[in-house]
Amino acid sequence: MTKITYIESDGTRHETEAQNGATVMETAIMNGVPGIVAECGGACTCATCHVYVDEEWFDATGGPSHMEEDMLDFAFDVRPTSRLSCQIKVRDELDGLVVHVPTRQG
Ligand code: FES
Repeated sequence: MTKITYIESDGTRHETEAQNGATVMETAIMNGVPGIVAECGGACTCATCHVYVDEEWFDATGGPSHMEEDMLDFAFDVRPTSRLSCQIKVRDELDGLVVHVPTRQG
């Protein structure tokens, strides 16, 4: 199990145990984290699963792919550590990952 913490814009924390192989988006949905909409179900075609990877973790997650970058153009308030959470696969190296949920999805 890999620990992932989601922090809402008001500071509310959601600490979850994620299955390796699932995505950060799927883990949020399974744990009822508010603010992750995921309209397209993980197909990288909606940008409503936008998160800010905590700066300390951005090297570990890596940046977005070209396709993801194109979709991020449709997200609200994109920042240097923005990712689409459906494109981050949970793995051992991400144990302890912290992501921040935007105030709203685009
Ligand atoms: S769930 Fe649609 S882009 Fe991630």
